[in-house]
Order: sequence, then C-alpha cells, then structure tokens
Amino acid sequence: MCSGITGYENWMSDKRLSAPALIQMKKTGQKIVCLTAYDYPTARLVDAAGVDLVLVGDSLGNVVLGYENTLPVTVDDMVHHAKAVARGVSRAMLVVDMPFMSYQTSIPSALENAGRFLKEAGAQGVKLEGGAEVAETVAKLVQAGIPVLGHLGMTPQSVHAFGGYVKQARSADAQEKLISDAQALQDAGAFAIVLELIPSEAAAQVTQAVEIPTIGIGAGSGCDGQVLVVNDMLGMDERFAPKHSRQYARLHEIMRSAFESYAEDVRFGRFPED
Ligand code: KIV
Repeated sequence: MCSGITGYENWMSDKRLSAPALIQMKKTGQKIVCLTAYDYPTARLVDAAGVDLVLVGDSLGNVVLGYENTLPVTVDDMVHHAKAVARGVSRAMLVVDMPFMSYQTSIPSALENAGRFLKEAGAQGVKLEGGAEVAETVAKLVQAGIPVLGHLGMTPQSVHAFGGYVKQARSADAQEKLISDAQALQDAGAFAIVLELIPSEAAAQVTQAVEIPTIGIGAGSGCDGQVLVVNDMLGMDERFAPKHSRQYARLHEIMRSAFESYAEDVRFGRFPED
C-alpha cells in the first residue's frame, strides 16, 4: 500500500484490523478512517482504498432501502447486507449496526441478535446507540466476546424523541452528560464511540476524557477518526447533501447520464451493434 508516511503502520499493512488495533491507533495518534458500506462491490473498493473500519450502518434504511428513517430496518435486513459486505472486506474491521429494537428490549435478545452478525455474517463487532442506559447490555456483549462500538450525540434511532435530526449536546449540562455516557461505555468495555452531530468542542472534550477512540460525524476535527455515509460522500442522491459531509464525487450525475445514454442508444438502434 502507501509508503513514506511514518506512524501509519496500519494503513501500510495488509493485516486485518481489530478492536485492539484501533485502540492502539488512538495511542499512537493515527487517525481512524471509517466509511459505511451496504453491498459487495462498494465494500471491495472501500477496503482496497485502505479504510480502517467498515460499518454496515442502519443508515441502510435511508440510503438504500428508501425508508424515511432507520426505524423500520430489521435484523434480517442487516444480516443480509452484512453478508454481502463481509465478502468484499479482507483488511478493515467490519462492524454491523444493531437496528432499532434489536437490543433495547432485553439483554438475551441483544446477545442473540448481535451473535447473528458474527456467526452468520462474519462481522467482527456491533454498534449500538445510547450511553449509560445501554452500558449493562454493552458489558454483557463484551463479556460474550463481541466487540462493541458505542454511538452518542444525535442517535438516529431516537429521531422522534429528538424532534428531528438536530444537533445534540449544546448546553453545558448536556455536555457533562455526554462525557459521563462516554465513560460509562468505556467502563462497559466498548472499544470506540461514534459521536454524531454535536459541537466540535464537546467532541474534543469527550475525546480527551476517554482512552478509547472517538469517531466523529458532524462532530468536528477533534475526534480520533471520522466516519461518513458512503452514499453521501459519493453524491448518490441529488436531493440530499448533509452539511457535515463532503461530496468527493457526484455519482448521481454520472449514473443518470449513463442511463440516459443507454436508453437513447436502445431507442435509436445504436445498441446492440450488429
Ligand atoms: O447508520 C449509520 O450509517 C451510522 C453512521 C452514520 C455512524 O450510524
């Protein structure tokens, strides 16, 4: 892979990344690069590009399945897509989101559902949303040998409770709670925490307060790593470009123009050729 940059040993190596390797990256000051993926061809390219952590996010619901939010996504949906992604990933650590109501109802059902992502899909960890209120569940998953990625701030499964996709942790009290939630997740054994849509100073404070890595999305540059939704960074949807993301391509234009060219070629007899 790449050479000439010191301190980026993981990036240069083909060795499979794991939860301890990501924790080590924080210790040595290496930024963690994370992207979502939902299918085999995207996963292959993301992995080949040297991304450290691939997340089969339940954003699957919004960006692939066409739902309004993540709430309708099922464990079966996630297993199906995680299996495809796993076939395309050989270097990055693969984490699968636990969908709404797959871990909130009881610890046994959280264990059973998380277990499916490791047994059936070949994932190396799961992500779930929440702080102190899910710490016991996180601890039980970790005790069962399942690495857990936490998720704080704007947690999309609580969109109705928040009254929309609005920035969280704006007040001093909320920022104190954020830090104690992050510490509760760390104490429960989480290997890293996603911080979504919070002020950058709050994200930097959490990052200082815990030894495990923080991975930001809409949380500024003070986190130990960054995650983006792959469809957003590729510009797949002309109607949606979140402010916190960056479009590295405008694939919707390229794809639409290819579809139109094909349609025209068929209609005018230019494809197929004799
Ligand atoms: O579902 C998802 O894609 C996520 C990321 C935005 C962190 O939770």
